[in-house]
Amino acid sequence: MYNLRTFASRPALYAAAAERIAEWLRAGIAARGQACAALSGGTTPEPAYALLAEQAIDWSKVTFALVDERFVAPEHPASNEALLRRALAKPLRKGARVAAMYGAGTPAQAALRADDAYAALHFDIVLLGMGVDGHTASWFPGAAGLSDALDSHCARSVVALRAPGAPGSADRLSLTLAAIVRAERVALLITGAEKLTALEAGASQAPVAVPVAALLGGVAPKLEVLWAA
Ligand code: 6PG
Repeated sequence: MYNLRTFASRPALYAAAAERIAEWLRAGIAARGQACAALSGGTTPEPAYALLAEQAIDWSKVTFALVDERFVAPEHPASNEALLRRALAKPLRKGARVAAMYGAGTPAQAALRADDAYAALHFDIVLLGMGVDGHTASWFPGAAGLSDALDSHCARSVVALRAPGAPGSADRLSLTLAAIVRAERVALLITGAEKLTALEAGASQAPVAVPVAALLGGVAPKLEVLWAA
């Protein structure tokens, strides 16, 4: 099962998430002289990133990767890369880097290029969100490409998916479960009773129907769920 940490308020949740990411970045720097956090987009984590940006870390030794990306250019308002660059502008000014996931061409071509770049990254922490439909990353139920994304033996770190109705873009690029299971730590940041209920109900479901179940099955010992109402 997974470790569930419940917080009395969303500000307390965001502070804990920022501290967790900072703790694992510091551990990576101490162990290997560099660190990498793979971060999600969406609406939930941005306040935590703003607090992370204020942490005292040697940002010149940090790379931020994307958990997933809408297939839109970084100038597009729906871009997760743009969200990270906005929220983490201070660390970026201090030398942190972003490993972009989006690239020109087709989604499949961009996924191959991102896969090459991401294969060299070692994730000290992966921060995920979740939808009430049980998706996490861009692992949307019914998405084309979902089987590769959920295959823990997949040779790829990044794949393209097509998820009609997904926010921002039906075409998505996403880390695979195989890439996430290699991380040092995984955190799932969720708010609201509906998402907690969906997580608890989804834990026993087939991953193809409730993709977050693949995460719970694949990385449970190093997964921490951070939740506030
Ligand atoms: C995205 C995210 C996605 C997100 C969930 C939850 O590109 O949309 O990476 O996986 O984490 O959809 O989104 P909210 O935080 O907005 O509920």
